Amino acid sequence: MTSWSGGFRKTLTRYGDDAFSLFLRKVFLKAMGYSDAALDRPIIGITNTHSAYNSCHANVPAIIDAVKRGIAMAGGIGFDFPVVSLHESFTHPTSMYLRNLMAMDTEEMIRAQPMDAVVLIGGCDKTVPALLMGAASAGVPAILTVTGPMLTGRLDGERTGACTDCRRFWARYRAGELGEAAIEAVSGQLAPTPGTCMVMGTASTMALAGEAMGMMLPGGAAIPAVHSERLRHAEHTGTRAVGLAREGLSPDRIMTPAAVDNALRTILAVGGSTNALIHLTAVAGRLGYRVDLDRFDSMGRETPVLVDLKPTGQHYMEDLQADGGFPAILRELAPVLDLGCLTVTGQPLAHSIAERAGSAVIRPFERPLHAGGAMAILRGNLAPDGAVIKQSAASPDLLQHTGRAVVFDDLEDLARRIDDPDLDVAADDVLVLRNAGPIGGPGMPEAGYLPIPRKLAQAGVRDMVRISDARMSGTAFGTIVLHVAPEAAIGGPLGLVETGDSIRLDVAGRRLDALIPDAELAARRDRQSDRRPAADPERGYARLYRSAIQQADQGCDFDFLRPPSL
Ligand code: FES
Repeated sequence: MTSWSGGFRKTLTRYGDDAFSLFLRKVFLKAMGYSDAALDRPIIGITNTHSAYNSCHANVPAIIDAVKRGIAMAGGIGFDFPVVSLHESFTHPTSMYLRNLMAMDTEEMIRAQPMDAVVLIGGCDKTVPALLMGAASAGVPAILTVTGPMLTGRLDGERTGACTDCRRFWARYRAGELGEAAIEAVSGQLAPTPGTCMVMGTASTMALAGEAMGMMLPGGAAIPAVHSERLRHAEHTGTRAVGLAREGLSPDRIMTPAAVDNALRTILAVGGSTNALIHLTAVAGRLGYRVDLDRFDSMGRETPVLVDLKPTGQHYMEDLQADGGFPAILRELAPVLDLGCLTVTGQPLAHSIAERAGSAVIRPFERPLHAGGAMAILRGNLAPDGAVIKQSAASPDLLQHTGRAVVFDDLEDLARRIDDPDLDVAADDVLVLRNAGPIGGPGMPEAGYLPIPRKLAQAGVRDMVRISDARMSGTAFGTIVLHVAPEAAIGGPLGLVETGDSIRLDVAGRRLDALIPDAELAARRDRQSDRRPAADPERGYARLYRSAIQQADQGCDFDFLRPPSL
């Protein structure tokens, strides 16, 4: 009998007799048609995130086949196994609420089952972060691939895509510019193929961040879901996974603090989703690193937006792929990245730089789309622990703005009153939504993109300053302050604001303040402390979530999943 302890000899089920455990495992391997020779091959686990509820993952079965082909070509055996799969529009209350469940599932199933390396197949927004969080904690060699973005649709000669255009057309419908038949026609052209949203939403941002962090083979992030190149990338990923297994190259050697910084600079340079900041904070936290928001803000000041993609710019992910994908971005971004970081290729990041420069979508470093970075971190008496604004997708004339607060207490209050013809609101007011954070939501819904009140939309208003403790889809645009921490539901100052207060947004000064005397704020806090807090959920995941969820500035992970030192 061989002394090799890898492959199917790993993580034996405990019966108090290892020889018997292995014997039983062989029995059930034979039930699946394998011979004893399988015991001497590296085993590569493959996370199967296919689900009938997840249109963004419709091509996962084909990707798994290609990954297995690559694994077999390199002498290994691929075993796919199911993990939680999350789609943005099919999860209640939010996919963010379930991200940590998926991360725990991923971690525990990697750890429990015999595998020498694992291929992570992500795609839709929360799936890539959850897979990376789980893999980081499990510590088994891991490599990431994604389902890839959708192709664009066509409507009356215009290109359309999810979901920047979903919001743009919906705003026109709310404003009365489009009728029922027109909005129905639009709905058929926003997501015309399998794959993830094809603008710089969270899925695209996290795929690029994963590649920047060194967890994906070069060029994988932007390949459209339906291109044959997507399957060749999957095949190469499978082959490389066997190499990772043989080398024992664990995720902590790739996802180092410098690699996390590379990913943070990348999300700034691509005009990425604000959600990615929360997710990268969570991934880093699993490895014991803290993402400092003020340092992230400093990075933003020296990292220009280079990628001309919606919602910040004009193009779509298939255009980015044609322009060279991440390796071509890397070529421009190299001056501010650490190119010595090790990647899953076994080589430093410098080896991933494209030979050819981009042209249509990727701007030269010295001629950026937006010089000031995609995001800015705000602090002030409304956000002592920070808030974020995607300034590259905001209205420049609203970045310095003082206005009267119009407050909505929660999502139900918002839904009830936002379109009320009698709502006292004007275009230069500031819309405030609270109790929509990690606990208040719960699950921090993507409600930060508050709709423009219908009567203002019909009068032609397209943007207003909006502030909340919620998140926003990366596909959205507007002058929108998000992730206010601490959230109102745990006593954050957003809960003290009243309709009629003056709010000052000063993005250049990185400030967000309510112009209320400290004594008045203190008096309001005293009155608020008389209120009874909401009862904790009685059972199940809701109870676990409520007891352990952290705030946005800490990545919204569960406190017991991060090292106690953080
Ligand atoms: Fe899945 Fe947009 S809904 S990526």
